[in-house]
Amino acid sequence: MMTDSRRPAKRLEDNSLKGRVAVVTGASRGIGTAIAEALAEEGCRLVLAARSVDRLEEVAANLTRRHGVEVVTIPTDIGDESQARRLIESAADHFGSLDILVNNAGVGIYGAVDELHLDDLRHVFEVNFFGPMAALQEAVRVMRRNGGGTLVNVSSIVGKFPQPLGGGYTATKFALQGASGAARAELKRDNIDVVLICPGLTDTEFSEHSRISVPGAEHRQGERHSLGQGVEPGRVGRRTVKAIKRGEREVYITLFDRALVWTAIHLPAFFHWALVYVTRYRRRRFEEGTAEGDSH
Ligand SMILES: NC(=O)c1ccc[n+]([C@@H]2O[C@H](COP(=O)([O-])OP(=O)(O)OC[C@H]3O[C@@H](n4cnc5c(N)ncnc54)[C@H](OP(=O)(O)O)[C@@H]3O)[C@@H](O)[C@H]2O)c1
Repeated sequence: MMTDSRRPAKRLEDNSLKGRVAVVTGASRGIGTAIAEALAEEGCRLVLAARSVDRLEEVAANLTRRHGVEVVTIPTDIGDESQARRLIESAADHFGSLDILVNNAGVGIYGAVDELHLDDLRHVFEVNFFGPMAALQEAVRVMRRNGGGTLVNVSSIVGKFPQPLGGGYTATKFALQGASGAARAELKRDNIDVVLICPGLTDTEFSEHSRISVPGAEHRQGERHSLGQGVEPGRVGRRTVKAIKRGEREVYITLFDRALVWTAIHLPAFFHWALVYVTRYRRRRFEEGTAEGDSH
């Protein structure tokens, strides 16, 4: 099948995403749905992955109706390495190509570092780090054959500084950032861009689906932790597409997020002092069972 997408991707230099093939993980809701929507608006053909089959189908039907693009769904547990690899193979088989991979699926875990259940932590690493790594490795093989492409890893501002009572989640995002930076340098010669997206608090169901891993509240889930209103996911989606077109290295969504990261890097003693206060506040909320988070 000789299609538009079989042209060498060449880092998408012509600035047009029309006809490109993109895989988006965690596309059944939240930021993943928003990124898929923004890519569909550009005319991309899409492969959507997540575990919730019904929600995936609903998102796919909406995108096809509104934007007239071909959308395929592949139910996938990204925390299972073989499923993560198969997702990319199936996507490339279906469309004969792959230009963009968005590693967006992710889950949170809350609890003090000394109290976290390590099995919970391992699970979160499988979903947030090892699954995306497996997908990335498979995608690179396809993109090399095609002459280039773009890999997007959705991290967080807490991939830049520690989040009290969110150290396990923070660790997965630091890991993703480390691997992304190395891959960006390594893959330059293959015309493959690696883009790191670092959202701050975003208005999704993220905290409701995150695990609480503390004694007495093991594996608690389904609570709303968010402190205040985050940005709407559509903003993250649109900014992500802009970053793909420009081949940006690292992206923040708001000025506030950028300022927080700047402070953490340049005023570490002050930042640590502030974190101690945030920890006290968050610990009290977790103990009361009305936990609130500052950012994800
Ligand atoms: N919301 C925030 O404030 C925020 C801030 C910074 C970064 N982020 C990051 O943004 C990304 C998206 O989060 P979100 O806010 O959109 O959260 P969300 O609303 O909870 O969506 C998470 C998505 O990931 C999928 N997912 C979870 N576990 C999965 C698994 N094992 N296999 C496949 N898919 C899985 C979910 O689908 P299924 O349940 O159907 O599988 C869902 O589509 C995450 O990487 C998160 O760390 C979020």
